[in-house]
Amino acid sequence: MTATTTWQHLCAAAKLSEGEPLGFKLGELRIGLYKVDDEIFATDDVCPHAFALLSTGFIEGHVVECPLHGAMFDVRNGECRAGDYDDIRVFQVEVRDGEVYVNIDDANAG
Ligand code: FES
Repeated sequence: MTATTTWQHLCAAAKLSEGEPLGFKLGELRIGLYKVDDEIFATDDVCPHAFALLSTGFIEGHVVECPLHGAMFDVRNGECRAGDYDDIRVFQVEVRDGEVYVNIDDANAG
C-alpha cells in the first residue's frame, strides 16, 4: 500500500510573519499556519475544545494559545500543553519557489 499525499497551496511564504498566524479553509478543513524562527508549521486550526480558531490566538515560541479558554498546543507536534484537551493534528509543510504547500493527507506523519 502506498501512502497518498495531497499537497495544497496555501499562500506565499512572504505573507507569513513571526507571531502572526494565518488561518486557511480548504473545504471542510481549517488549517492554521505559523512561522517560528523562520520555520513554518501547519496544524488544525479549530480548537478541539469548542469552536475557536487557533490562528486567531496568541503564539509564544512554538506554543499557540486558544483565544477562547486558553488551551495551549505545540505547533511542532500538536501536543496539548495546557488544559485537558485532545492533541491537534499537524501537517507537513513545504516551501517551493516561495510558496507554502501543506500535505493534507498525511496528518501527523512528521
Ligand atoms: S475553545 Fe479552545 S480552549 Fe475552549
